[in-house]
Amino acid sequence: MAIRNIRIDGDDILRKKCRPVEEMTPKIQELIDDMLETMYEADGVGLAAPQVGILKRLVVIDIGEGPLVLINPEIIEKSGEQTGMEGCLSLPGKAAEITRPNHVVCKALNEDMEEITVEGEELLARAICHELDHLEGILYKDLAKNGLLDVEAPDEEE
Ligand code: NI
Repeated sequence: MAIRNIRIDGDDILRKKCRPVEEMTPKIQELIDDMLETMYEADGVGLAAPQVGILKRLVVIDIGEGPLVLINPEIIEKSGEQTGMEGCLSLPGKAAEITRPNHVVCKALNEDMEEITVEGEELLARAICHELDHLEGILYKDLAKNGLLDVEAPDEEE
């Protein structure tokens, strides 16, 4: 496994539409492992393949309940509304208030390319919507009605 370089806002690859994963290969498995490692190392709750420069429909999420790998994900149901602060590893030091559905049902494939259904509320619903947007080249700042806020950068001197 290896930490991959996270692409930062301004990089064209973050604005491209991703292609479906056709089959599980050692290369895709390695990408998944690397994305999980990269997300944990960066203290993120989610990471999408284009953020590490790969235009595939693949995201990883962990809101503190264990890793979730979603391949070719699709939201099939959404309801309710929540408004809260959101950030992204591709926009370091920034955050914005974003309105999302409060509940989503997502259909995807797991690492064994088996169909799974994931239901998410609150933070998980937000994370699923945010990560799936990345696959369409959409960044949360596109949805920020009140603009971006500067948030305190992590203290690098410990
Ligand atoms: Ni993001």
